Amino acid sequence: MQRILCVCGARPNFMKIAPVVDALRRIEDVALVIVHTGQHYDERMSSRFFGELNIPQPDVNLEVGSCSHAVQTAEIMKRFEPVCLEHKPDWVVVVGDVNSTIAAALVAVKLGIKVAHVEAGLRSFDRTMPEEINRILTDSISELLFVTEPAGVENLKREGVDDERIHLVGNVMIDTLRRNKDRADASTILSSLGVEPANYALTTLHRPANVDNAERFSSILRALKEISKDMPIVFPIHPRSRKSIETMRLGEQVASIENLRMIEPLGYLDFLKLMSNAAVVLTDSGGIQEETTILGVPCLTLRDNTERPITIDQGTNRLTGSSTDAILSAYRAVRDTRPKGTIPDLWDGHAAERIVDILTGVKS
Ligand code: UD1
Repeated sequence: MQRILCVCGARPNFMKIAPVVDALRRIEDVALVIVHTGQHYDERMSSRFFGELNIPQPDVNLEVGSCSHAVQTAEIMKRFEPVCLEHKPDWVVVVGDVNSTIAAALVAVKLGIKVAHVEAGLRSFDRTMPEEINRILTDSISELLFVTEPAGVENLKREGVDDERIHLVGNVMIDTLRRNKDRADASTILSSLGVEPANYALTTLHRPANVDNAERFSSILRALKEISKDMPIVFPIHPRSRKSIETMRLGEQVASIENLRMIEPLGYLDFLKLMSNAAVVLTDSGGIQEETTILGVPCLTLRDNTERPITIDQGTNRLTGSSTDAILSAYRAVRDTRPKGTIPDLWDGHAAERIVDILTGVKS
């Protein structure tokens, strides 16, 4: 019997862990333990995804909550160590690039427990991003590295990682998208919001580089105001960004954008429906760049770099940064000529099965 402990903690982790957990549950001689760190804890940022994506309730919730990076990471580590000692897993599986990812990986490896990292190898080459530090550190201590796109393999090889640790398996976030697309199509969110298919923009913003910087946030808002003269903009707002609007006194600027529907964070199915039918998506998220690539929806990434270059080389993604003019010219370009993308290899809905085959085939 192999004991496998899966860790998740923040919103994008839930979409990534869901298909891995599902594939592991199908294997008889695997004892599965699910740990939620509690990095995200609002119903809208966390528990609703367990229901929607059919993830079993976590066996353990570390309830770490929000705090500074150091305190959050340290608290997860303190609380996760006794869980590892109690459950004695053969493997700890971590996903993505959030503080929960590195905290859990570091605890496991110091206890001599092997770590598998899902979504390994991605690099933005921007070390001011907390996620970039989390990725580099997690990859360097993980035994198995499951990669979504060829650039990730190259990055790991350049960092001196042995070939046998690296596995190009595809994208678990796309497994979740493919599995849930039909259910999402049944969502009535468009009519609830009063928007028409292909005649609205969808935006999400939460990166500290954008929303904790008044100048950048304001520059993005100016672009949104122009775009909203063309079509309504739906903006499900992350709690971090909502706070920033208050503390940086951007409320008036936001209120001046007439056609902006600022709403609470959405569930997975409603958001997928909105993304699938949008004329354009403007975002600083990582996962949304990948999801729009599969959906063939134009995506403007309001960042200076991306760790997911395949979404630009092959997909419908464009990097704009945060300057008003750059966002508007990219917006006009995709509005006038919709970009055509192709689907990256192995983004076929079966990444989690490949991961679990490798994980359970490795002698522990
Ligand atoms: C984290 C991840 C980021 C990921 C994002 C998705 C790190 C370093 N960052 O950023 O990579 O893209 O999650 O959302 O791990 N808050 C709530 N309720 C919640 C969660 C957060 O109100 O359930 C608020 C708190 O004020 C908190 C702030 O949002 O201080 C930021 O939360 P935190 O988990 O620290 O980082 P995110 O910005 O969500």
